Amino acid sequence: MLVPVLLSGGVGSRLWPVSRELHPKQLLPLAGEFSMLQATLQRTDGLSAAPPLVVCNEEHRFMVAEQLRQIDIEPTALILEPAGRNTAPAVALAALHLQALDPEAVMLVLPADHLIQRVEAFSAAVAAALPLAESGRLMTFGVVPSSPETGYGYIRRGAVISTDVYDLDRFVEKPDVVTAQGYLDSGEYLWNSGMFLLRADSYLSQLEQHAPAMLAACREAMAGAASDLDFVRPDAAAFARCPSDSIDYAVMEHTDAGGVVALDCGWSDIGAWSALWEVGERDDQGNVASGDVLLDNCSDSYFRSDSRLVAATGVQNLVVVETSDAVLVADRNQVQDVKRLVSALKAQQ
Ligand code: GDD
Ligand code: MG
Repeated sequence: MLVPVLLSGGVGSRLWPVSRELHPKQLLPLAGEFSMLQATLQRTDGLSAAPPLVVCNEEHRFMVAEQLRQIDIEPTALILEPAGRNTAPAVALAALHLQALDPEAVMLVLPADHLIQRVEAFSAAVAAALPLAESGRLMTFGVVPSSPETGYGYIRRGAVISTDVYDLDRFVEKPDVVTAQGYLDSGEYLWNSGMFLLRADSYLSQLEQHAPAMLAACREAMAGAASDLDFVRPDAAAFARCPSDSIDYAVMEHTDAGGVVALDCGWSDIGAWSALWEVGERDDQGNVASGDVLLDNCSDSYFRSDSRLVAATGVQNLVVVETSDAVLVADRNQVQDVKRLVSALKAQQ
């Protein structure tokens, strides 16, 4: 059984003021008609997979359930985290749940906040990775890097297994910029797209090896889980004892059972406003605008208006995002720092 496992736990603070704790980016229609969660689910349509499993924060359960209903998806389960413990425990909860349903379950782990332009290429990469995942490998999907991005993991390809499929020689999560530039220049590295294909039991045995305390806490949390309708609620006290870490640091940097499929599908991690400018439809001056926006002599900028007219003249390389209670103005090349603004705002409250 192949099961899409959607990770929908992030807050998306760099996409403030549109993304908020109660309305995080993955539940918003940021790049099209459907929310990013819905678009991610629709992308799995052609994979002949079992119904998906979503791991999300408890507080988002009704929004998530409603969004699935809107696109006629009856999930395998919605696992509700009482608090976020990052991605390694989130995937562990999913693995423990699925293993009880099918000891050979294979999980297609998908962040709910990515954009993919060519779905057929994505499906082909999953198909290429599947036999290896079934045989116990932890498969990653690697994207040819275009800049020394420090927010990504880097994968060094090893021996060729088949067309576009390689051994995973080395995995380095979020290197500093000098190291990242070296990886880029070497031509040997791919960006980790953050999607994984792995058997539930393989993942759990890797956790046993590399993060036993995490596995023990997740086991306890699932042993004490309560279920009602599609909702599965891990035991809060046990999960609170779980160490917090990402799958990248906790497992992928240590495993010797990794593989990588090269992925060329117009992948984009919508991490910050600049990404929406990059994937958006630009006018002749390089502006991307949505909502009620009037521009005069502006270039290479991103404008979004949700509730009022936004008018601008003579500006370049800006991000302007208007909502009913807050307006963001930022240099398009420094939008990662929106996170800092959000922390400062929180500290004031
Ligand atoms: N359910 C749940 N619980 N989901 C979570 C949690 C959690 O505690 N924490 C994060 N997520 C979700 C996020 O919403 C996102 O969809 C996904 O898991 C990945 O988490 P991020 O926090 O966005 O990770 P990242 O972007 O810093 O890094 C990862 O993705 C990069 C590509 O976008 C890593 O896998 C990198 O190696 C990779 O390059
Ligand atoms: Mg991310």
